[in-house]
Amino acid sequence: MPENIRRYSKLLIAIHWSTAVLVLIAYLVSVGGHSVRAHAPVLHFACGLAVLALVLPRLIARLAGGAPPALASGGPRLVLAAKLGHAALYFLLVAVPLTGWYAASRLGVPINLYGLHIPAIAAAVRGRIGPVSEIHQVGGNLILILAGLHAAMGLWHQFVYRDRTLERMQPF
Ligand code: HEM
Ligand code: HEM
Repeated sequence: MPENIRRYSKLLIAIHWSTAVLVLIAYLVSVGGHSVRAHAPVLHFACGLAVLALVLPRLIARLAGGAPPALASGGPRLVLAAKLGHAALYFLLVAVPLTGWYAASRLGVPINLYGLHIPAIAAAVRGRIGPVSEIHQVGGNLILILAGLHAAMGLWHQFVYRDRTLERMQPF
């Protein structure tokens, strides 16, 4: 067991946990088609767009050396699986909010975040808006499932390999 673990930078830790909370809230307050047109889910939009806004600073902080090298406790295949899992989460952190933004624009629902008006990224249509809405919903569910598996792997590392993985991302 390593004595001195290298932790993620404070900025990456702050963004990691804020993103996790924002994704969870966005998911819990999400609503489907008809009700979106009738009552725009402002909190859903705000949390989802905040998730998107945090991706770029997160990637910059990583490139600037804020992430420690991967722990090799589970062998090279598990290191590769963790890298692919993290990449998939990053992909969803961009794709889910973007498809949601597109869906809201197609539905013609104004995105007014407590006074801050966010422009539409597509022309509004009447009736059905096409597959983007389903893609967004599937992506929204997928991100929760993947994050659950990711959290389970983190716990597995911590308590089975005893490599102190969780401490690398511990806020305090
Ligand atoms: C990580 C962020 C997000 C997650 C996890 C997420 C998740 C979801 C889920 C699960 C649904 C389906 C709800 C249901 O049918 O009961 C949904 C619907 C929706 N979301 Fe998101 N969402 C996110 C971000 C966003 C953003 C940023 C926007 C817009 C700015 C947005 C706009 C919408 C719209 C318009 C719908 C309704 C689509 C339809 O039924 O046609 N979402 N979202
Ligand atoms: C929506 C929820 C979550 C998302 C999107 C997410 C995403 C990520 C990503 C992309 C990384 C790679 C490092 C980085 O670039 O920041 C990471 C690392 C990590 N996450 Fe999460 N995470 C979520 C929830 C959780 C939860 C609930 C736990 C609790 C067990 C957790 C524990 C960790 C740990 C310990 C690491 C560091 C792994 C290592 O040392 O390589 N995450 N997470």
